[in-house]
Amino acid sequence: MKKIMLVFGTRPEAIKMCPLVKTLDNEKNIETVVCVTGQHKEMLQQVLDVFDVQPKYNLKIMKEGQDLYSITSDILIQIKPLLELEKPDIVLVHGDTSTTFATALASFYMQIPVGHVEAGLRTHNIYSPFPEEFNRLAVGNIATYNFCPTELAKENLLRENKNEESIVVTGNTAIDALKTTVNPDYHHDLFEWIGDKRLIMLTVHRRENLGNPMRNMFRAINRVCEENDDIRVIYPIHLNPQIRKIASEELKDNNNIKIVEPFEVTDFHNFLAKSYLILTDSGGIQEEAPSLGKPVLVLRDTTERPEGVNAGTLKLVGHKEENIYQTFMELLNDSNSYKKMSQASNPYGDGFASERIKDFLNKNI
Ligand code: UD1
Ligand code: UDP
Repeated sequence: MKKIMLVFGTRPEAIKMCPLVKTLDNEKNIETVVCVTGQHKEMLQQVLDVFDVQPKYNLKIMKEGQDLYSITSDILIQIKPLLELEKPDIVLVHGDTSTTFATALASFYMQIPVGHVEAGLRTHNIYSPFPEEFNRLAVGNIATYNFCPTELAKENLLRENKNEESIVVTGNTAIDALKTTVNPDYHHDLFEWIGDKRLIMLTVHRRENLGNPMRNMFRAINRVCEENDDIRVIYPIHLNPQIRKIASEELKDNNNIKIVEPFEVTDFHNFLAKSYLILTDSGGIQEEAPSLGKPVLVLRDTTERPEGVNAGTLKLVGHKEENIYQTFMELLNDSNSYKKMSQASNPYGDGFASERIKDFLNKNI
């Protein structure tokens, strides 16, 4: 019997790790231990509830005004006794958060092998996204096994001289999750408010966008809303108080924008599926949108997800007000531009990424 410990702490990690937890739980040769760091609290719990995953451990590290220092050091210190107690054969981490980095480092200090899920994403700019690009690079150096979502991600790791044997291309577990949530019969009370208008989904949260970049985004959106009465914008706002402050200062009281609390993932995916267009600086949404055939204006200068850009679904629009305004208007008014971006494609796999990771682990640990 092999013991696999899965550690995650934020909403996106949970959405992409829960399908894997469920898949490994069904395997009789494997004992799974789930530890959440609690880097997020409510937004993490929403996901655990949807997937019905009960962690054995919750480090509950989230605190008011947490920063990169406190998150990283709290996790490093608090996870040590759990690793000593559980002695897992392998620790699985996901993606690029501070939880991912601190957990990989703690495991390395104890010489426990690390498996990196969603390995090999790169922008090649260590400050963008910040600090995620560094986290991915650091975990890439520590990981014994790399589960890459795409061939491009694998190529990134080969270019960094990672051993090919350590890499397996699995698809992204985000698509595994999406397969279980989107339902054509889904209904929500907000659908009455949307009526026959075009639904625009908006999310913004990145650290490097806090401040003027975020203000510019909101100003561009105000202008588009003022000029177009046939759209309805829904913005499930992140719980970060810094973001809420900027949004309350900048977003005008428009009849066609609704700011709502974070959606639980089933709601969110079904709203994406109903949308006309998505504006976001999120990573995970860039993976989900292509398979739903929904155009995304990516409110960033860089992306580690070029597959979606190559597929035509994603367009990088940066954080300058005029550029966001112009591109947003174009997609509302030019049906050819819209059509070009709204073809569904599956660069992130077929929804069986968790199965492939399980098969690899069964053979290799
Ligand atoms: C973190 C990740 C980022 C990821 C994002 C997903 C790092 C450095 N950043 O950024 O890579 O894209 O999660 O959303 O790891 N808060 C709550 N309740 C919650 C969650 C957050 O109140 O359930 C508030 C807290 O005030 C917290 C703040 O949001 O201090 C920021 O959370 P934090 O995890 O530090 O940063 P994120 O921007 O969420
Ligand atoms: N999401 C959600 N509810 C919301 C907004 C987003 O469940 O109100 C999901 C979304 O479908 C995606 C993930 O959260 O799977 C993205 O998380 P986030 O944007 O916070 O982080 P990132 O992906 O940028 O790290």
